[in-house]
Amino acid sequence: MKVLVTGRIPDEVRAQLAAEHQVVVNPLDRPMARDEILRRLADTEGLLCMISDAVDGELLDHAPRLKAIANHGVGYDNIDLVAATARGIPVSNTPGVLTDATADITLGLILAVARRIVEGDRRNRQGRFRHWAPLLFLGTEVTAKTLGIVGLGRIGRAVVKRARGFEMKVVYHSRTRLGAREEAALGVSHRSLEALLAEADFVSLHLPLTPATRHLIGAAELRRMKASAFLINTSRGPVVEEAALVAALEAGVIRGAGLDVYENEPRMAPGLAELDNAVLLPHVGSATWETRSRMARLAARNLLAALAGSPPPDCVNPEVFAVG
Ligand code: DGY
Repeated sequence: MKVLVTGRIPDEVRAQLAAEHQVVVNPLDRPMARDEILRRLADTEGLLCMISDAVDGELLDHAPRLKAIANHGVGYDNIDLVAATARGIPVSNTPGVLTDATADITLGLILAVARRIVEGDRRNRQGRFRHWAPLLFLGTEVTAKTLGIVGLGRIGRAVVKRARGFEMKVVYHSRTRLGAREEAALGVSHRSLEALLAEADFVSLHLPLTPATRHLIGAAELRRMKASAFLINTSRGPVVEEAALVAALEAGVIRGAGLDVYENEPRMAPGLAELDNAVLLPHVGSATWETRSRMARLAARNLLAALAGSPPPDCVNPEVFAVG
């Protein structure tokens, strides 16, 4: 069968796919052009796509032979799941393998924005480190502060583990509350979103993007946060209303933000890049050699299983395999 891989993947993973199928891989470190994807899908059975590809109804209409979609990423809001399911196409993602890398970058953003690490580096390079003074260039202490985690899935829990090392108190908000025993084991307490926003020194978002979570954090929610608090987002950009965040950062409604994701990637809302109280990463939460290679291997494993007619291990629409 024919397989299209829209992003660059390790040679070893390409070889694994090529051992069973005829494979076309995007050799470049940039997204494959949509026109090219549409053209190639005309006679392709397997698609290993990137989180930057919009796999929508139009694209699927160009793919009459498509039998499987494997997303190279845990978040799959780039895929119209209803449209894929309606066509009987199994879709899979890559859960688990990027948990630690994303939790690490979350802590990195917390430290970077609170202790003004990136701003300090910038100053130094501009030749602006002229002297030491006791009240100069102060940041915010992280140790023993309150961390508010919104969305306590795999990544949220991995952040909790790391926060423990900083003696942080952790409160969380999620759709389903954990049992008392599990809360005690993790050392977390549940809050309503409103209460969490008002209490936390750092609010960290770990939610998938769905219609219910789009713009979960807007002007009103930012106003509920403490003026000394920070917002951290390593989940999906549209969970935050970015223009409202820029206004809040400019007006000092909150003290700062650490972002890895944006509402309209790769663009950023006007004004964001000018703010010293924001640390802005280019969606690199999972970007380590180890993790990206695990993601590619897992996506390939899912795709190979689906092309062989079995449910892929990480299928997100298992109903396509329901009998009858
Ligand atoms: C994912 O897998 O959803 C991540 O955002 C990729 O870094």
